[in-house]
Amino acid sequence: MKEVQLRIPATIANIVCGFDVLGFAVNEPYDEITLRISDRPGIRIHHTDGYGLPEDPALNVAGVSLQAFIKELGTDTGFDLEIHKNIKPGSGLGSSAASAMGAVAAANIALGNPFNHSRLLYFAMQGEKVAGGVAHMDNVAPCLLGGVTVIQSTDPPDAISIPAPELQVTIVHPQIEVKTSDSRKIIKKEVPLKSAITQWSNVASLVAGFCTSNYQLISKSLHDVIFEPTRSMLIPGFAEVKAKSLAAGALGGGIAGAGPSMFMFSTELETAQRVEKEMQSVYEKLGVEYKTYITTLKKTPLI
Ligand code: HSE
Repeated sequence: MKEVQLRIPATIANIVCGFDVLGFAVNEPYDEITLRISDRPGIRIHHTDGYGLPEDPALNVAGVSLQAFIKELGTDTGFDLEIHKNIKPGSGLGSSAASAMGAVAAANIALGNPFNHSRLLYFAMQGEKVAGGVAHMDNVAPCLLGGVTVIQSTDPPDAISIPAPELQVTIVHPQIEVKTSDSRKIIKKEVPLKSAITQWSNVASLVAGFCTSNYQLISKSLHDVIFEPTRSMLIPGFAEVKAKSLAAGALGGGIAGAGPSMFMFSTELETAQRVEKEMQSVYEKLGVEYKTYITTLKKTPLI
């Protein structure tokens, strides 16, 4: 196949308590990419969005991921890549993961699927390393596999997609940029055993809640006692958004990935709409520009 076009979903890493191990894909927002195989070796990248991202493949997340793909392929295949991002960089919605995973997934389709999911995750993680300083997998995995994913291992990359019930997802993105690398710098490197036990109890219960469609268990498990207290300080309005969303009937939620976006799960669309109104009112009052989305889990794999 000479040309491949893909829509690449936004993803929300951590799902509150599962730092670096849980994530899910959503139907909106999404990026659009077109990849063409070229007779001319090398990678050429063109962004049609207005985000001013570097187009030099060595500095571009998609470019670095494709370079890792080509290196392992062992040929001098050429790629022309056009990227239109709707997922704003630095939003906490898996923008870099979408670029990284989108590029290698499209290249894999174009060349007749030479690599399995584990290798594709590895290539995309090389791009994530450029963006955030760490090759974390909890955005690229749900981006590729769809639905809710659990990271079993990063070396070698191994992720599983677990069953999940229908969920409405309300997202608010205050228009400030939080770099993943900065948001990782401020987290404590030592965790008291008591907090660790609470955290992994919530992670296990949340996974059980997803697998059994137990909304009450999902709601009870969406707590982060380790990272949220520090990271939320980078997000204006965080506590108010959370309190008002829960009062409006949301099951629970928190920081999307490294922030600054926040997300809330609800069972009904009407609740998700009430949550959106509460989120909007917080940022109207604070005078901070924002964007909201109401979406659902994207359950289908990318490829
Ligand atoms: N797990 C990563 C973090 C996700 O929280 O830093 C970044 O999107």
